[in-house]
Amino acid sequence: MSDSRGHDGRNSQQGQDSQDSHDDAAQRSHHAHAPVPGHGHGHGHGHGHGDGWADFDWESLLPLLVGEAELFSGAYREAAAWIGEQRPADEVRRILDIGSGPGVVTCLLAQAFPQAEVVAVDGNRALLGHALARAERLGLADRVRTIEVELPEGFGLLGEADVIWAGNSLHHLGDQRAALAGFAGLLRPGGTVALAEGGLPTRRLPRDIGMGQPGLEARMDVLVDERFALMRAELPDAKEETEDWGALLTSVGLTSPATRSFLVDFPAPLDPAVREQVVSTFIRNSETVGEALSPEDAAVLRRLVDPADEAGLARRPDVFFLAARSIHTARRAA
Ligand SMILES: C[S@@+](CC[C@H](N)C(=O)[O-])C[C@H]1O[C@@H](n2cnc3c(N)ncnc32)[C@H](O)[C@@H]1O
Repeated sequence: MSDSRGHDGRNSQQGQDSQDSHDDAAQRSHHAHAPVPGHGHGHGHGHGHGDGWADFDWESLLPLLVGEAELFSGAYREAAAWIGEQRPADEVRRILDIGSGPGVVTCLLAQAFPQAEVVAVDGNRALLGHALARAERLGLADRVRTIEVELPEGFGLLGEADVIWAGNSLHHLGDQRAALAGFAGLLRPGGTVALAEGGLPTRRLPRDIGMGQPGLEARMDVLVDERFALMRAELPDAKEETEDWGALLTSVGLTSPATRSFLVDFPAPLDPAVREQVVSTFIRNSETVGEALSPEDAAVLRRLVDPADEAGLARRPDVFFLAARSIHTARRAA
């Protein structure tokens, strides 16, 4: 059970919205959501035949998506304030949250831009339902809307916007440059596109944990990145791009590219909520890359996710959570 209220005061960036905290669990990686094949039974929009790297059962990922977004809420709130510095918040009247998932960030944007209608845009109906329910709980229902649409096909349905936020979602579209051109075409003059993509590899354990070879997390990150590439290659209309987000944003006619990275820092000892998310992350990542690890690393990972093991993540005192998320912005000329 996780509860962002339990994120103690040592972290100034913790989330404020805890209503979905019962769903908390987290998936952490350099790429925010490590690709894991879907199980083919979801109501999402996988692109293959149900067992490929690009086939996500998004609905089953709900706890992970909510937990992750809540853990990063402080960073996203700071990012929203930064976007507000680029354009006064009261001039922002309509925001599109592309690939909103369950709407944690949608609601956060609605709070940061109190004059704005914020539209959660996603291909998954169930997740959009959670976004609306969250908006209702937070008293934001009058300004939060949803559009269920599969991108890039549905760009024409989105309408114009002052801010387009795409959090951990652009990389799920095969042709990212074409998608950015689509975003640019929706922006009002002076409007801002903000991409949450990349950052630093998240760390949750010391390099040497007293079991196995030091550096397990770094070795897992390499494997997660390999899976990420497999996922991207399987997307419809997949195009390889150098992830120079500023260059991509300007290539579609936007100006003033800028990047800032925001820290999420929960030091040891973790409160139970964050610890549980860390455990969920490792369980998730062990499903993703466990089979590709060396036998020695796999054995260590099994111990780490064993709730009964004194050296496991559920009990050891040295578990922490340290992450950085990068936000890349650019504007349409006024
Ligand atoms: C990794 S989640 C990000 C959720 C949220 N933005 C966040 O940062 O917490 C990606 C979201 O993009 C949506 N998505 C992925 N591909 C999509 C597509 N082609 N069209 C519409 N939505 C898509 C998924 O349904 C999922 O909710």
